[in-house]
Amino acid sequence: MSIRLKYPLFLLLTATILAGCGEVEDTRPGQPVKHRQVAFKEIVKTFEPMGVMLRKERYDADKFLPMAEALLAKRDGPWSYFGADTNYPPTKATPDVWKQPEQFEKDKNAFIAATDALIVAAQSKEKAQVEKAYETLHETCKTCHKQFKER
Ligand code: HEC
Repeated sequence: MSIRLKYPLFLLLTATILAGCGEVEDTRPGQPVKHRQVAFKEIVKTFEPMGVMLRKERYDADKFLPMAEALLAKRDGPWSYFGADTNYPPTKATPDVWKQPEQFEKDKNAFIAATDALIVAAQSKEKAQVEKAYETLHETCKTCHKQFKER
């Protein structure tokens, strides 16, 4: 390749990196890191409004159930993007994801089970039960993040 061809390519790459305001772009085929980060953002988008409703003491059973179902629809999003060779910038995952896959799987399953329990609680329409299930679910996020996500 001649220097004339390389130079514009270099400029293009620099522009791409700067476009993200210093954030590193996921440029790998299939963009697994980007996809799982987007999938986690979709989880938090469905998770957070339920917490807001409960904290504001405005529990509405008929509105809460579809909110819990929205989370259920997003809960499987990130996991298939944690492939073997996907520990690279801009990931915020810790190396433990790949070093301790059994524990990661265990934490994931606890999260899945907690979303099932949230649905059962939401169907009961009992505020106390819903609050407990929501808190248990929140604990599963925190438990996994503690070991597997950089802060
Ligand atoms: C089994 C482990 C696990 C569970 C359970 C889990 N997360 Fe995460 N989460 C991660 C990992 C690992 C990352 C970092 C992904 C990356 O950057 O590659 C992450 C990233 C995130 C991010 C940042 C996305 C971004 O880059 O902007 C948010 C927000 C998030 N999780 C929310 C949640 C919420 C809310 C829950 C619970 C309802 C939850 N997570 C449950 C492991 C988990």
